[in-house]
Amino acid sequence: MDELEVLPKNIVLIGFMGSGKSTVGRELHQRLGYSLTDMDRLIEETVGKKITEIFKEEGEKVFRDFETLQLVEIAKQTGKRHIISTGGGIVIRPENRSLLRKLGYVVWLHAPEDVIFERTSKNKERPLLNHQDARERITSLLAERKPWYRETAHLKVDTAGLDSSEIAAGILESARYYFTNAV
Ligand code: S3P
Repeated sequence: MDELEVLPKNIVLIGFMGSGKSTVGRELHQRLGYSLTDMDRLIEETVGKKITEIFKEEGEKVFRDFETLQLVEIAKQTGKRHIISTGGGIVIRPENRSLLRKLGYVVWLHAPEDVIFERTSKNKERPLLNHQDARERITSLLAERKPWYRETAHLKVDTAGLDSSEIAAGILESARYYFTNAV
């Protein structure tokens, strides 16, 4: 059987911190009525700690393990369609990247570095950027991760100048085309 014939019709949002995954995820959820799975929130609920606490008390490796575990659990769910909003570092592990593509239509939300810096500097909920040199960290993490986002995504959306409603509308159109031609 063709791999595409068994592809579940989830929409998976990937992209760097501050690229708008959660906001666009909520917008898609409202428009489509699919369940919304926000992986960061799910990890916080399951573990009973904020992400900043997990990083601080247990370290990044433990957080990444939770992330992969969560992805494996989501992949086991069949039937119900989901909008899956991921954490920006989900693409670091190769096994996550291949799982993501099996989950559905993967959309990379891409925002300019300036926008990312402006958005992420407004809150302290992101342990990887809670540093004096946040700007440099964004530059280097982005450079490292871009090839992984590119490799994982079926669609790249340049979000500059668009609001979440416009972004969601564009994603829906492409997803419909993709799903129609995939089955
Ligand atoms: C991370 C991104 C965060 C969260 C964690 C690590 C990353 O999610 O998963 O702080 O490595 O890029 P958002 O992309 O939703 O901010």
